[in-house]
Amino acid sequence: MTVRWKVLLIVGLTTGLVLLMGLTLLLATQRSQHSRDRLMLIQGQNESLARLHLASEQYLRGLLRARDRGTSTQPLQLEMMALIAREEALLQHTTAAEEALSPDEQEDEWAHTQTLLAALRSWTTEAEARVRALPLETSPLTTEWRLFEEFENNVGQLITAAQEAEYQERIEHLNRAQIRLKKQAWLAILLPAISCALLLGLVLIILVPMNRSLKALMQAARRIGEGNFEVKLPENPKDELGTLAHAFNQMASELGKTLEEKQRLMKAEAEATERHFRHYNALLEQTVHTRTAQLEQANTQLRDSLRQLEEAQSRLIFADRMASMGRLAAGVGHEINNPLSYVLSNLNYLSRELQPGRPAPSAEEKLELMDALNSAREGAERVRLIVKDLRTLSRPDDMNTEPVDLGEVVRGAVKLAERELRDHARLVEDYGGLPRVRGNATRLGQVFLNLLINAAHAIRQGGKAANEIRIHARPSGSRHVRVEVSDTGCGIPQENLTRVFEPFFTTKPVGEGTGMGLSVCHSIITALGGELHVQSQVGEGTTFSLLLPVMDDAHSGESQAVLS
Ligand SMILES: Nc1ncnc2c1ncn2[C@@H]1O[C@H](COP(=O)(O)OP(=O)(O)OP(=O)(O)O)[C@@H](O)[C@H]1O
Ligand SMILES: [Mg+2]
Repeated sequence: MTVRWKVLLIVGLTTGLVLLMGLTLLLATQRSQHSRDRLMLIQGQNESLARLHLASEQYLRGLLRARDRGTSTQPLQLEMMALIAREEALLQHTTAAEEALSPDEQEDEWAHTQTLLAALRSWTTEAEARVRALPLETSPLTTEWRLFEEFENNVGQLITAAQEAEYQERIEHLNRAQIRLKKQAWLAILLPAISCALLLGLVLIILVPMNRSLKALMQAARRIGEGNFEVKLPENPKDELGTLAHAFNQMASELGKTLEEKQRLMKAEAEATERHFRHYNALLEQTVHTRTAQLEQANTQLRDSLRQLEEAQSRLIFADRMASMGRLAAGVGHEINNPLSYVLSNLNYLSRELQPGRPAPSAEEKLELMDALNSAREGAERVRLIVKDLRTLSRPDDMNTEPVDLGEVVRGAVKLAERELRDHARLVEDYGGLPRVRGNATRLGQVFLNLLINAAHAIRQGGKAANEIRIHARPSGSRHVRVEVSDTGCGIPQENLTRVFEPFFTTKPVGEGTGMGLSVCHSIITALGGELHVQSQVGEGTTFSLLLPVMDDAHSGESQAVLS
């Protein structure tokens, strides 16, 4: 049975039971009403009979009193008859109203009443006639007693019997009502109890299987949630839960199939991806292989190019060296050639003049000869100095180092250059409180002297008032001292800046400079572990920067260490 029908059954049964209880209540109420009406009717009939009984006694007494007074008894009789008629009408009505009696019973009861009333009427007439006919001397009490006795024996017994019957009927009616009330009380208890039990039973019949089915459904749903699609719920096509179970089974089966399909697709996709991956991997490997080969080829080409470049560089360096050596040789040749030429010409002159056989020179000629000799010595001295510079240039490390007070060195150089500086520029000195540097005082003095003379030579115009030569020194970090020698001279053109440190590079006229100064300075400073740089702007001036190492504690004790 479907749940809908079960619910309809419960609702129908409940409605039926409620209607039944209502009907029972209505019937009980109606029965109570009828019972009460019946009791009222019996009561009314009893009262009528009692009134007739009492009225009969009063009528008898009234008749006797009227006889005693000598008045007519006729009105009393009529009055009694009227009363009997009224009570007859009342009794007829109440008998007809007794619905509890069958028509036969009603007819029977009415026949008894008719008999009683007829006897009463007859007694009424007879009693009046007898009282009227009584002789006056007759004792009224005796007459009354006799007439009363006749009434009681005749009509009174009938009334009493009727009252007795009514009483019995009332007792029976009350008993029946009592039994009916008990029945109704039991019905009032049993009917709701049976109704409740029936309802409860029906609810249980519906709810228990429904609850069981829902629990099974929930468990199945949980199993599906855990990924188990092999769920099969019992299907009962007769109710909605069975239909739901059928739909659920179908859903689980569809889900299982969908999952299988999805897994199959995913597997196929993974396989395809792996195939693609393998393909791309192979492609990548091939590309890497090709690229590696190309790189190796390029590398080989690069190596070849590098080797060629290195060879070209070597050739260039060699050519440069050759050019430098050529320049050096040319410079040396040129510088030595001049003094040597006048040494030779003077020696030739001396040789000619002092040839054997020649007359002895006069005092004047001797002076000339001495001049020629001195010139030859000067020339030789110049060649010696050039050679000395060349030695310094070729073996710059061959000098002693010691802690040097730079201030003292600079002051000495300034003093030596004083004559050159005096006419050209103002000298600004700023180099106090410097740490000692590691160097050679003589060689450093030579460096500063050359820088100062170069600066003085660079100042060609403006004179002392317009020009300045500045010597500025300060510590550079904790391990070096930087000295700057700057001037406001003519400056060095850009193309010469890289050449000023070359040996024999000079812009000075022949005889004024050898061009060895800066190259010797550079060699000395480099040999001492320092640096020498130049910055210059044509027309503005030049600055030479020296970076010299400070004499640290480790070296301060080795005052006579030799650089090797
Ligand atoms: N302060 C300076 N200002 C301008 N030019 C300079 C300065 N110092 C050097 N030079 C240039 O550098 C050249 C090379 O100088 P270096 O001292 O080596 O030789 P020199 O001074 O020419 O000759 P030497 O020093 O041998 O007598 C100089 O001829 C000059 O042209
Ligand atoms: Mg110089």
